Amino acid sequence: MMHLSSYFTVVAISLLFSFAPSSADTHENFVQCLYNYPHNTTSISKVVYTQTNSSYSSTLDFSIQNLRFYNASSKPLVIVTPLDVSHIQAAIICSQRHGMQIRTRSGGHDYEGLSYVAEVPFVVLDLINLREIKVDVENSTAWVQAGATIGELYYSISQKSKTLGFPAGVCPSVGTGGHFSGGGYGFLMRKYGLAADNVIDAHIVDVKGNVLDREGMGEDLFWAIRGGGGASFGVIVAWKLKLVPVPSTVTVFNFPRTLEQNATEIIHKWQLVANKLDEGIMIRINMVRVNSSQSGKPTVQATFESMYLGGVDELIPLMQKSFPELGLVREDCTEMSWIDSVLYMAGFKSGQSTDVLLNRTQLNGLSFFKAKSDYVRDPIPDVGLQGLWPLFYEDEAESAYVQFTPYGARMDEISESEIPFPHRSGNIFHIQYGVSWQEKGDEALQRHVDWIRRLYSYMEAYVSKSPRAAYLNYRDLDIGVNNNGYTSYSQASIWGLKYFKNNFNRLARVKTKVDPLNFFRNEQSIPPLMLKGRK
Ligand SMILES: Cc1cc2nc3c(=O)[nH]c(=O)nc-3n(C[C@H](O)[C@H](O)[C@H](O)COP(=O)(O)OP(=O)(O)OC[C@H]3O[C@@H](n4cnc5c(N)ncnc54)[C@H](O)[C@@H]3O)c2cc1C
Ligand SMILES: *[C@@H]1O[C@H](CO)[C@@H](O)[C@H](O)[C@H]1NC(C)=O
Ligand SMILES: *[C@@H]1O[C@H](CO)[C@@H](O)[C@H](O)[C@H]1NC(C)=O
Ligand SMILES: *[C@@H]1O[C@H](CO)[C@@H](O)[C@H](O)[C@H]1NC(C)=O
Ligand SMILES: *[C@@H]1O[C@H](CO)[C@@H](O)[C@H](O)[C@H]1NC(C)=O
Ligand SMILES: *[C@@H]1O[C@H](CO)[C@@H](O)[C@H](O)[C@H]1NC(C)=O
Ligand SMILES: *[C@@H]1O[C@H](CO)[C@@H](O)[C@H](O)[C@H]1NC(C)=O
Ligand SMILES: *[C@@H]1O[C@H](CO)[C@@H](O)[C@H](O)[C@H]1NC(C)=O
Repeated sequence: MMHLSSYFTVVAISLLFSFAPSSADTHENFVQCLYNYPHNTTSISKVVYTQTNSSYSSTLDFSIQNLRFYNASSKPLVIVTPLDVSHIQAAIICSQRHGMQIRTRSGGHDYEGLSYVAEVPFVVLDLINLREIKVDVENSTAWVQAGATIGELYYSISQKSKTLGFPAGVCPSVGTGGHFSGGGYGFLMRKYGLAADNVIDAHIVDVKGNVLDREGMGEDLFWAIRGGGGASFGVIVAWKLKLVPVPSTVTVFNFPRTLEQNATEIIHKWQLVANKLDEGIMIRINMVRVNSSQSGKPTVQATFESMYLGGVDELIPLMQKSFPELGLVREDCTEMSWIDSVLYMAGFKSGQSTDVLLNRTQLNGLSFFKAKSDYVRDPIPDVGLQGLWPLFYEDEAESAYVQFTPYGARMDEISESEIPFPHRSGNIFHIQYGVSWQEKGDEALQRHVDWIRRLYSYMEAYVSKSPRAAYLNYRDLDIGVNNNGYTSYSQASIWGLKYFKNNFNRLARVKTKVDPLNFFRNEQSIPPLMLKGRK
């Protein structure tokens, strides 16, 4: 049985390839196919951009968040910005008919540009027009379309309630389509888990063009799209979320300590307590290079960035009991509403209107960047930290950061297989390494990428092993990629086990069921199992 079906699969695929027309024909026929597809509401021609349309470039560039992919040579032949589900169905059906791949883009924050760059003839399905948000305060739920950003979501919740929130990321311009399908964390993670842990329903368009809700797609596919990455399975149109209670007053602080101010010792202590603190408190560390205010010489500054779900009167005794080494006092803290804490943590100046959350442009402008991630299961010894600091003094590290995010509390309670995101109990904290730069050209690119690879290699001794785990939403193509055509399960396991551990196999089985011919694919998409054995 298995034998027979894989035989037919192979035949189907070779037929598809042998009839694939040249790319010029491809996209004209594709566009014609879109126009001919039956549509419910607005005509699709208003939202189809080929390379000759005057607004093609501005439409493509608008959501690019990493200058590394700004002038990519491999651009989409067509961009479609759907106004309703029928436009998505048309794009999926017509792409298959005319030998095009689809890259779906919501917020465009993919670290490796996978939502808008590809080496094959392809279409970008940009969900920027699908951003409706409906908040139901009575039931503490919300429906959010995948093209909305988390900033738009936080804003909409705050317009309806001062005591409801949602546990997702820090940067408001991040899109809900990619973010929720890859996990999604921020300052509510210790109390409530990931964004994906709080998704209770979804609408997806599958490879046949069916629009499915949770019941229609079934529990396997619904499991897969909450942490397994949406791009392997279809196009997610909307999410239903369980909103979470937040107190009317929260407390925040940003507390910097340089190496001269005993940062190493404090970070050492932080590693022993950060994942065990009261679930209402989250203290993340952001490390960068600065000039010492005393000596003027470069040093490393660790900023302890924190949000506590309660007032300062409760926070101070908690800190004195569990983490006195930080030396935090009342004056370092500020009380505010949860929505103002969202602005504060995102780096907006105090007093700014909540409206800034609706702005899809990044606060500090764009740069070239490359990032990587790790998980830490045993505290890094001081000697490990001391060996890390010199890397910050190299030229390439001028705008580099290393960020430690504590786990524990709710993150420890959820089982590793509850959703595809497997990094739960046993992890003390998560690391993100990033380097950014403004200088154009390959030489600058190479130097900065080399720097972060050296840093990653240095850290190997201190982080999770077998596999060295990584976070899907901090996509890193260095950890392994698929072939352009067929990729075996074992080849994909090289990167797949790092992101998903034991959940990778179930993801591949879901993929086999919902997209056996592997239409929805990219450099790190889940491969179907059917083709196993074919070379
Ligand atoms: C400045 C910045 C800040 C960040 N902050 C955080 C943070 O605080 N916490 C955190 O957890 N992560 C954070 N991230 C990472 C972020 O979660 C991921 O990059 C996430 O995938 C972005 O989603 P997006 O929709 O913006 O990206 P996109 O580039 O649009 O998509 C990312 C991936 O998801 C796929 N995809 C997108 N939409 C859909 C859809 N509707 N259906 C199916 N597949 C889809 C894309 O094809 C692509 O593979 C940050 C990233 C950046 C650049
Ligand atoms: C793109 O150009 C074609 C041909 O000029 C036109 O029909 C179509 O409406 C344009 N699309 C958009 C979105 O402007
Ligand atoms: C992209 O190309 C344009 C036109 O050649 C150039 O002006 C711009 O600086 C380039 N941008 C980047 C980020 O490379
Ligand atoms: C048109 O709308 C109806 C009802 O809303 C829906 O069932 C149908 O699938 C839609 N068709 C298309 C092509 O979107
Ligand atoms: C709350 O949920 C119930 C049950 O699903 C529904 O009947 C009711 O309309 C919802 N409330 C609002 C305000 O939508
Ligand atoms: C750093 O630690 C030393 C020795 O424990 C102590 O004397 C000093 O006051 C500390 N400095 C700061 C800024 O806390
Ligand atoms: C730090 O000092 C160096 C050398 O004096 C200077 O070039 C650099 O701009 C300074 N950096 C910051 C962030 O002030
Ligand atoms: C959005 O934010 C960017 C970057 O901070 C800023 O330049 C721009 O003016 C803002 N746009 C609006 C409409 O406020």
